[in-house]
Amino acid sequence: MKKNAERISNVNPLRWKRHQLDVLEQRKLPLVEHWRICRTYEEVAQAIEQMSVRGAPAIGITAAYGVALQALQVSDVVKFKDLVLKSIHRLARTRPTAVNLFYALNQMENELINNGHLSLAEQKKKLEELAVRIHRHDESLCSQLGHWGAQLLQGKKEILTYCNTGSLATGGEGTALAAIKRAAQKNKQIHVWACETRPYFQGSRLTAYELAKNKIDFHIITDNVAASLMKQKRVEAIIVGADRIVANGDTANKIGTYSLAVLARMHQIPFYVSAPRTTLDFQKKQGSEIQIELRNSKEVICPQGRAVTCENYPAYNPAFDVTPGTLITAIILETGICYPPYRASLKAKGQNLKLTL
Ligand code: MRU
Repeated sequence: MKKNAERISNVNPLRWKRHQLDVLEQRKLPLVEHWRICRTYEEVAQAIEQMSVRGAPAIGITAAYGVALQALQVSDVVKFKDLVLKSIHRLARTRPTAVNLFYALNQMENELINNGHLSLAEQKKKLEELAVRIHRHDESLCSQLGHWGAQLLQGKKEILTYCNTGSLATGGEGTALAAIKRAAQKNKQIHVWACETRPYFQGSRLTAYELAKNKIDFHIITDNVAASLMKQKRVEAIIVGADRIVANGDTANKIGTYSLAVLARMHQIPFYVSAPRTTLDFQKKQGSEIQIELRNSKEVICPQGRAVTCENYPAYNPAFDVTPGTLITAIILETGICYPPYRASLKAKGQNLKLTL
């Protein structure tokens, strides 16, 4: 598994430098590779809100570094706990749907609470080390996801994917895109349909960037091309990521994922979801309980800063939708592949998550 991983070309979207966190500015990719420098937790929070860094696992890792940044900067022993907690609460208000954010922040908060008896220097060290561990842990989860996902894609040549689920969205190879990268190493004939993913174009900008770097054959399609490709039998499998998967398998992911799942069912195409266990939320029983982030209408009216219609027109811009578990053929976790009924299979393979690194 390691040998394969070494040949995969990943783009690390985060550089931890202790006094600052550098974030690869994903709003400018692939045309410009620019690093956004975050010197405070507030700057980290803004980088997440403004989607300079995005993708469920990457958001969690970034937030953990934001807390570490704050911990390293506070020198007042008495105020340390409150000021670090303040950063955790601020970072928790950035984006509501991806549960990985809350997983990472909970880890950081527990570490803060549990180490209150240590010296200030030791507490800082522990928090920084934990942020780095959360990052490294996700890297290892990604390679396991790639391994399982590639098994499902075995023998398939025409794969459709949505949004960006690669190294830009995670701490490693990615989730759904890791499966494609691994499968492409074995089967050079793989061809990917990368849906552009309006309104933020994660597909045409970010997934295309990663596929090109990995020399995987692909075409960008506008989102509305998917149905006719399926009808023409030019899609053999669909694989996507997730921002939150609840107990019954209902899955929140990038807006537009649900329509692909409906189309897949209509055309009898397997529809796979790949996500680490940090994306599972067993506290929610069904998808209707998931909070869907509503983003600024400007992203629709003025995508990539260029107006495509009158700037005063109203627009509705939910960032995610929920695909019912009943439309999902299999959910890939780092622990293995889950099949319906998900209430049982997710419970069997999804519990007892521990930060093992
Ligand atoms: O709004 P984004 O770009 O953060 O949304 C990203 C997605 O929906 C991804 O599919 C999901 O986070 C999984 S990334 C491994």
